Order: sequence, then C-alpha cells, then structure tokens
Amino acid sequence: MAKLQPWQAAPKNISQQNIVDLFDNKIPYIAVKNFLSLSECHLLISAILKLGLGGYNYHFDINTAPPAQHLFETHYLYENKTPEEYFSAAEKSIKEYKQLCDEIKLYPDKKMMSLLAEHLQKPVVIASQDGKYYSHIIIRELKNSALLHADFAPFIPSYWSISNIIAEFAWNIYLSDAGKGGECVVYNKPWGKEDDKYITGDTYGYDHEVVKDKEFVEIYPAQGSLVLFNSRNFHEVKSSENSRIAMGGHIGLTKTGEVILWV
Ligand SMILES: [Fe+2]
Repeated sequence: MAKLQPWQAAPKNISQQNIVDLFDNKIPYIAVKNFLSLSECHLLISAILKLGLGGYNYHFDINTAPPAQHLFETHYLYENKTPEEYFSAAEKSIKEYKQLCDEIKLYPDKKMMSLLAEHLQKPVVIASQDGKYYSHIIIRELKNSALLHADFAPFIPSYWSISNIIAEFAWNIYLSDAGKGGECVVYNKPWGKEDDKYITGDTYGYDHEVVKDKEFVEIYPAQGSLVLFNSRNFHEVKSSENSRIAMGGHIGLTKTGEVILWV
C-alpha cells in the first residue's frame, strides 16, 4: 500500500472532486447537513419503529461486542454462507424497505443516489449478481459503542460480485437526536491483510494498537445529516446519551468505474 498521506480538511460541501477524494482517502469524510428535515426524520422513525428492529443473528461474544438492533438484512452476516441464502433474505428486505418508503412517500436512498449521480455525472446503481439485487440499506439502532473495525468488500470471498470493488465508502443518514456522544471516530489507517492479527477474541473488533498514533476525526451524528466516510479506514462509534437510529450502507467503485450500493 502506498505511504499514508495526511488528510486534507473535510470539505464544506459535496462535489465530484470530493467524492473522488473520499474514494482515494484524501479527505476524512463528507457531511451534508439537513439532508433530511426533522419532520422527515420523525416520519421515518415512526415507520421504522412500527416495523420493529431485531437483534443480530450472529455469534458474537456479548461481553465484548456491544449489542445493536437492526432492520433488514446485511450481507455481513452471510459472507461465509452461500449467495442463495443471502439473496433470498435480501429479496425480503428489499420488499419490506419499499413498503416502508411507499407508506410514507419518502425515499432517502434514492435521494442520496441521485445526489451522488448528479455530482459524479454517472449512474449510481444497486449491486447485483446473476440477475439478483443485493439489499442496499440497513437501519440500525444503537446506544452502545461499536467496536473498532473496517469495512472493505475485497476481503470477502470472491464468489461475491461486490468483492471486485477497488474503493469503498460508507453512507449514514442519522435520523434521531443522539444527545451527547455517539461520534463516529475514523482513523487515517486503511485496512490491510496484515492488520487481522489485531482482531480481538470472538468479535468483529480490532485492538487499538492497529491505529496507534494515527490521525483521526470524530464525526457527530447530527440529526438529519448524511455522512460519507471511507470505510476501509478503521472506525468505531462512541456510546451516546440517546439511542441513535440511522440508515446506511456501502458504496463501492468497481474496476470498470461503476458506482454500486449494497449492505
Ligand atoms: Fe463499519
């Protein structure tokens, strides 16, 4: 990996250059304030709570991995299972998400995809494989912290089409008022294979030794804001006063220059 360069300051707005710089890890994040209005946030929250959130069906050591609630499937839980198992679960999530949006006539994912497509001057599409779509949105509720980790699809098995991406960032829209805390801490330290020796016990978390002395930023989850950060960089989330309800997912750049979404 090329030598790490210090980040430039986070930009004040979103632009084509900023999105390219985010893929290239030249800037720490892009924040779009008031991407959704407070009334849109409230509308989404009540629709989400009506559907209900559930626990992750994954074997974590609950003494060290703080619990979180979620709605809709995430690819993360299927990385070592078969694509068939994932895509049938994804189909259900896609349907449920569409129903949720149709009910309140609000489509935050489409709004975000159009914003990116408009700036990038090219289509931003949902990832697919053998004619089947990935689920591209997850809704999480979290009051606890989230452990230090990185998200980068090329480290998953190659039978997943998304593993072919060359750069990736995460998107989050924060729907609730977190009160004090809840910052997402992003370190200027992209994940590399050699870092897996720092995985701690039976969790998804890494020891902080992996980011020792690295530059970092703390991003406050302002209600209604859209935040994009390069998720190959190690990141963690601090616990907050109120529980945080956020929707988000992953965006990748393929070798052929396509921009794709999945979760
Ligand atoms: Fe993450």
